[in-house]
Amino acid sequence: MSDDSASETTRGSDGDGRVPVLLVRGDREYLVQPGGEQGTDLGVLEVPEDVQPGETIETHLGDEFQVRRLRGPDLFHHFERTGAPMVPRDVGLVIGETGISRGDRVLDTGTGTGVLSASMARAGASVVTYERNPEFAEVARENMALGGVADAVDVRTGDLTEELEELEDESFDVLTLDTGDAPSVVEHAPDLLVDGGFVAVYSPFIESTREVVHAAREAGLSNVRTRETIQREMQFDDRGSRPSTAPVGHTGYLTIARNV
Ligand SMILES: C[S@@+](CC[C@H](N)C(=O)[O-])C[C@H]1O[C@@H](n2cnc3c(N)ncnc32)[C@H](O)[C@@H]1O
Repeated sequence: MSDDSASETTRGSDGDGRVPVLLVRGDREYLVQPGGEQGTDLGVLEVPEDVQPGETIETHLGDEFQVRRLRGPDLFHHFERTGAPMVPRDVGLVIGETGISRGDRVLDTGTGTGVLSASMARAGASVVTYERNPEFAEVARENMALGGVADAVDVRTGDLTEELEELEDESFDVLTLDTGDAPSVVEHAPDLLVDGGFVAVYSPFIESTREVVHAAREAGLSNVRTRETIQREMQFDDRGSRPSTAPVGHTGYLTIARNV
């Protein structure tokens, strides 16, 4: 354990069953817990405990906000940011390629902002996630509570590469890695995963991706595949339709491998 609070977790810490909601008015958007208070430039919003999506609530100055249900991409926009959060399309690729669903146990590192962890929890998984920066881990715990998934995401403070022995007796359905030292964890993937379980590694650079692929092959994982994640936005205006001339939408490389 690299930190005294390594065994601290968020499991059950928001066990009051409250579901966060979005309060929206034009460009203004706030993610809040029922029963909370939100300051805005239009006055203070007091959020009732029993607030429901579809309702309208007013600031103390009388301006109306719509109440909306939180959806996955809102996590990316509203979580407090520390480690660079995964963009919604890459979250979708990780979940789609590994089939993460209800009942799965996932080991994730590093937590960072916690967008991937929270999204996997929202898909029904139970997630153990390691963050070596104690301050980032603390923010991630708050983000999990804000995202309504604190019961499903166990944020542990620590460096996963130093915790591998501790995890020897556990097994996971999926291992997700978004760190520069991913290759040194991939080596241990067969000991961490159930038979047929998946590894998903997200790397921003080709060099680290190459090391991940090498480590996966050496570890005897199968179906080792890497794809660049890239998306072209389209522009539709009066002059015509074409791909956006804004910079190319490269975010990284996603390597998927299977423990079979
Ligand atoms: C790019 S961020 C992860 C973002 C996260 N996937 C998300 O969607 O919000 C990488 C994080 O991993 C942490 N990290 C890097 N290596 C680690 C390790 N070996 N163990 C635990 N955390 C690590 C860093 O401190 C950083 O916060």
